[in-house]
Amino acid sequence: MTTQYFSALSQKEAGTRIGGSVIRTGGLVAFPTETVYGLGANGLDGEAVSRIFEAKGRPNDNPLILHIAKKSDVKELWHSVPDTARVLMDTFWPGPLTLIYRKSSIVPDEVTAGLDTVAVRMPEHKTALALIRAAGVPIAAPSANLSGKPSPTSAEHVKEDMDGRIDVIIDGGPCQFGVESTVLSLVGTPTILRPGGITREMLEAVIGPVELASSILSPLKEGETAASPGMKYRHYAPDAEVIVATGSPKEAAGKIAELYDSKEAEGLRCTVFATEQTKHFYRGKRCVIIGERSDPATMCANLFAKLREQKDTDVIFCEALPERDMGLAYMNRLLRSAGFKTI
Ligand code: TXA
Ligand code: MG
Repeated sequence: MTTQYFSALSQKEAGTRIGGSVIRTGGLVAFPTETVYGLGANGLDGEAVSRIFEAKGRPNDNPLILHIAKKSDVKELWHSVPDTARVLMDTFWPGPLTLIYRKSSIVPDEVTAGLDTVAVRMPEHKTALALIRAAGVPIAAPSANLSGKPSPTSAEHVKEDMDGRIDVIIDGGPCQFGVESTVLSLVGTPTILRPGGITREMLEAVIGPVELASSILSPLKEGETAASPGMKYRHYAPDAEVIVATGSPKEAAGKIAELYDSKEAEGLRCTVFATEQTKHFYRGKRCVIIGERSDPATMCANLFAKLREQKDTDVIFCEALPERDMGLAYMNRLLRSAGFKTI
């Protein structure tokens, strides 16, 4: 298959018009959102949705998010709209918040992987909204990477993984948030299944106490069922091994410096993901600056791209951040990309 490529800047009209008709006729279109690039198909057509799983090599028990362009469209996808959802939609949509509630009968099993709930989100990115409108149906879309790889935050990343496997790529430049949406289940006590750009603190200011799924910062225990099936799988793995150093910046840097030297002595090529505040700890070592510790949102925005870019490295060392505000989303992605390996 030849993948057609459109720039959202110079070919805006054509990209969303052709992309919309490809979706309507059962094809696959990668498109930019404010979080990461999505790989979209007609969310009401089970056969089209199953092509997403094929193109990504995604385990088919991992459900997808339906993307809509109008808040009121949730009404046909959920069996009812709870009050908490209304408040959250009014406050945070369009934006990086996915809400899970009981599904209606029009949602195909391929989207929900057989669950009786469905995840819905209204993205903020203008190209994503234009594409959904042009398609005229909700768009089912996971991140547009091969399963297991870091999510794509530019069209180049999408091309790297998906060229020749999908019909269309719409290039909208780099993504603003760089990590996927916050996933919040509204079945029972509101529970964050995946942290993202809408933080726990922001949600609690609007609806009161919100729980965190235990698998956000630790691996599932033997025999434990995942609140969100996606938590079972290895995620965001770059080509290199990732190791996370915990403790204060100084403690983390001390641990990294020591292990860096011994790995290099074994002949392994090492890289440190440092920050503006900590780079001075690593003189003479290969460093990539990932942002400022005081600005975890920027560190999130850079993380996946920097992980992908390290082609000639065997080991990547990263410093842990405090697990609050956007630091929680950062640590969730980082620990998963490290397969929870910490020092
Ligand atoms: O920002 C995003 O959310 C991006 C863009 C493209 O919108 N999409 C995305 O999709 O990250 P994906 O498929 O890579 O991640 C969706 C996550 C998975 O962990 C999945 O298991 C979970 O949401 N999920 C989806 N439906 C669910 C459901 N009904 N119950 C529990 N978890 C669900
Ligand atoms: Mg994904």
